Amino acid sequence: MKISTKKPVQGASTPEIPEHDAAEESWHLIQRAKRETGYGAKLKLKAGAVAAPDRYSADVAEAVLEEDGNAVDAAIAVAFVLAVTYPEAGNIGGGGFMNIHFDGQPYFLDYRECAPAQATRDMYLDDAGEVVPGKSVVGRHSVAIPGTVRGLWDAHQRFGTMSWQRLLDPAIRYAKQGFVVHRQLIERRDVMLADFECKTNFTRFFGAMAQGKVFRQPDLGNTLTRIAKYGVSEFYLGATAEMLVRQLSTYDVPITRDDLRNYCTVWRKPLIETWNGYQVVTAPPPSSGGIGLIQLLKMKEVLKGAFAGVAHNSAQYVHLFSELAKRVFADRAEYLGDPDFQTLPVDRLLHPAYLRSRAMEIDLAAPSKIGAVKPGLQESDETTHFSIIDKAGNAVSNTYTLNSKFGSGVVVEGAGFLLNNDMDDFSCKPGVANRFGLVGTDINAIAPGKRMLSSMTPTILTKDGQVSLVIGTPGGSRIFGSIFQVINNVHDFGMSLTQAVAEMRVHHQLLPVDTVYWEPYAPIEGVLAEELIGRGYNLQPRFTNGDIQVIRVNDDMPEAAADPRARGTVRLVN
Ligand code: DON
Repeated sequence: MKISTKKPVQGASTPEIPEHDAAEESWHLIQRAKRETGYGAKLKLKAGAVAAPDRYSADVAEAVLEEDGNAVDAAIAVAFVLAVTYPEAGNIGGGGFMNIHFDGQPYFLDYRECAPAQATRDMYLDDAGEVVPGKSVVGRHSVAIPGTVRGLWDAHQRFGTMSWQRLLDPAIRYAKQGFVVHRQLIERRDVMLADFECKTNFTRFFGAMAQGKVFRQPDLGNTLTRIAKYGVSEFYLGATAEMLVRQLSTYDVPITRDDLRNYCTVWRKPLIETWNGYQVVTAPPPSSGGIGLIQLLKMKEVLKGAFAGVAHNSAQYVHLFSELAKRVFADRAEYLGDPDFQTLPVDRLLHPAYLRSRAMEIDLAAPSKIGAVKPGLQESDETTHFSIIDKAGNAVSNTYTLNSKFGSGVVVEGAGFLLNNDMDDFSCKPGVANRFGLVGTDINAIAPGKRMLSSMTPTILTKDGQVSLVIGTPGGSRIFGSIFQVINNVHDFGMSLTQAVAEMRVHHQLLPVDTVYWEPYAPIEGVLAEELIGRGYNLQPRFTNGDIQVIRVNDDMPEAAADPRARGTVRLVN
């Protein structure tokens, strides 16, 4: 890309922004060459498909696929639209993971946020060495360096075929002209208002949003317009960067220009494991999700006999699931963090002999006591996921987040976008539970430039090199258990995709001891509740277990399902 030296940015010492036209021109030449050599163009499916968390993003993906954009083009357009119409989790101020299947090959883009250079291990502790409640959760102290725009840009550079400007246009339109606000968005906003009121500028930006009314975000529209025009440099070096830095500069651990300039995405090798004739292609560290999902699937395979004939969501089923999940969460807390900061024992955690011995530890009848194992648990409220496949069989499974609903609650003044509070995914004080109950060890302690441990698990199942399932969900620590349950609903119980997603899901995560979480959407009640209590489980209501967006390919025809727990929707694009 050509960098202009002629265009100084207001208030910046050295930043330079690219000559968009020149960059676009050479980029278009590359895209034309890609098309002419048949890059990703062989049609394999009768239709493309989308499962997206709201109707605006689904419409936009549909339009991109209809214009012969590929799954990555559609993903980029969807991600920008969600930053406007799904502000509780869609974002440009957060980060995430994109799992891509392209021309038969797996790719995994890590655009997770990371800690600023001045971050320290004890930054959330008071003078007495205790964690300051809420400091890593609400307000500017909780913000990590955002990765989303860099991630979407890098995905576009590598796989995009439509122009960057075209892919941002719908988001710009919804920001400037507005969109009609969904009831669920208002409900989610209202539960956060009290938390945000004194510590952030959230209410000034989102207080006026009303159910069923058009909501416009002019500052965000202008920011997206600049990003469309100048590309990634606008966010990390340009006027947007200036606004972000100014907003966070008065804090003792600021995000600086250098932090933004130095932020990098990482193309990682996805975790790939064989399971029941499929290749499960899923999230590697710094997510714990792929390891968790594979551990669950493989331990369940070891216990095939114990699961045989066990009715779906019966007390025995919930018990066996909880026993498996217990072990996964124990490992998560003890062994997982940023792979670029320490060597993680991933191979050992996924070794058949290890999983066999872990599976064999479980008590088939009652909750087993595993007090000697260090626990880990995490609860958060909002993230979002979408799944897309194009007619050429390329797929994107993307989960990205601000962490909890509306992230830190801090809106960048003048730029109109929310910043994440993903610093809270670190272990603020190793060994001490944070506000969401996370207990970790040194392995997930804060360090400059380090990525915080995640549970996000965008996953693709392939068979003979072709995509078979594209799946993911929000839900913090509930993510990989939710995906596991839906995969089993389809695989073991032969449910339709819609039913598999709609069924009740449960959650268990080692601590609190013997607690099974249920969701108000589909409560554990009646005989099932009595049986589980009889076995020694505490039953606790807690939020919903995710918002699954999934696509399955049957021969050459995709079908898609969106979780009835939220406001997602699906599209088939012929
Ligand atoms: O990376 C993580 O695991 C969390 N920041 C994700 C948060 C989340 O999924 C909240 N969603 N309900």
